[in-house]
Amino acid sequence: MTTTTPDLQKVGAFAQQVGAALAGGATAAMMVIGDRTGLYAALAAGGPLTSAQLAARTGTAERYVREWLAQQAAVGFVGYDPADDTFTLPPEHAAVLASDDSPASMIGGAPVISGMHRRTDQLVEAFRHGTGIPWGEQDPTTFEGTERFFRVGYRNSLLSEWVPALDGVHDRLQAGARVVDVGSGHGAPVLLLAEAYPNSLFVGYDVHPASVETANRRAADAGVSDRVRFEVNHCHGYPDQDVDIITFFDTFHDLGDPVGAAEHARHALATGGTLVLVEPRAGDDLATTLATVPMAAVSFAASTFLCTANSLSQPVGLALGSQAGEARLRDVLTAAGYSRVRRVAENDFNMVLEARP
Ligand SMILES: C[S@@+](CC[C@H](N)C(=O)[O-])C[C@H]1O[C@@H](n2cnc3c(N)ncnc32)[C@H](O)[C@@H]1O
Repeated sequence: MTTTTPDLQKVGAFAQQVGAALAGGATAAMMVIGDRTGLYAALAAGGPLTSAQLAARTGTAERYVREWLAQQAAVGFVGYDPADDTFTLPPEHAAVLASDDSPASMIGGAPVISGMHRRTDQLVEAFRHGTGIPWGEQDPTTFEGTERFFRVGYRNSLLSEWVPALDGVHDRLQAGARVVDVGSGHGAPVLLLAEAYPNSLFVGYDVHPASVETANRRAADAGVSDRVRFEVNHCHGYPDQDVDIITFFDTFHDLGDPVGAAEHARHALATGGTLVLVEPRAGDDLATTLATVPMAAVSFAASTFLCTANSLSQPVGLALGSQAGEARLRDVLTAAGYSRVRRVAENDFNMVLEARP
């Protein structure tokens, strides 16, 4: 047997890479703390601040805040001035960390990472037995994070870029369309559409009762319950017919039976109706995805924990994975009886496919 002695310089360089990855995981947990306690918002509202000033403004314990600030300085999120022991969150960093309303916000990603950490034991069992984990059995922080993280992209692109790129969809929505959204989660994209198109009627279906309840609460808070409702139902269980537009927002690849779901949608569509898939942006093969998708490492982790696990928990269990890619999605749609499939838009995270029978 021959053994290869590792090159110690390369070992050192790779250990640094692993250290950076561990720092990422640890920082996600610290981001959740900064978000929930209002530390980021307070730093964004006024600085430079000492740990005592920040603790006083947020009603938190100074000793913890001092440690948290040191970690945030170590990772480069805040600046540190040793002359007066103060910390600053630059406006460019505040745009990403301090508010969900910023178009650059990524703070919603942190609870998604926390949620994954809370389900490692279940996933180890799933790896051993090939079983699935239904979406509803994930930690609730996952649902909160998914809503917050995806909503930023929907706010940035849905009304301004994606709807106008879809053939005739803006006009239909404006005139008054019947819209079904499948796998509606907390309802973020449906609420954006409902606010913009008051003549249309929207119904969202999801298998997870707690998400449906939250989505209905969000609709009531937004004052659109007269034209939006969310119900518990499966992707091939809903009874609607003559639907003008059927949407799947970051859901299609999660389904156990996406072919069956697309077939069900085809039967529910009105003549001339449109199926819309908003899916994670991906290449058609792994090498292309690795080279072109900015957050591939996060996406594949989420796919392992959430998307693939959910699909494997359902009949058929096709398990497309979050980075299925356009060619694979086209195959699924073709198998479900769609002959016209068009990629109409994309941003950093998503691509949008329009399909017609
Ligand atoms: C990643 S979340 C996306 C939620 C929402 N569309 C959004 O973009 O914010 C996927 C959703 O699909 C739902 N789901 C999974 N399998 C489903 C099925 N077979 N039928 C209907 N909904 C399903 C999950 O419960 C979850 O709420």
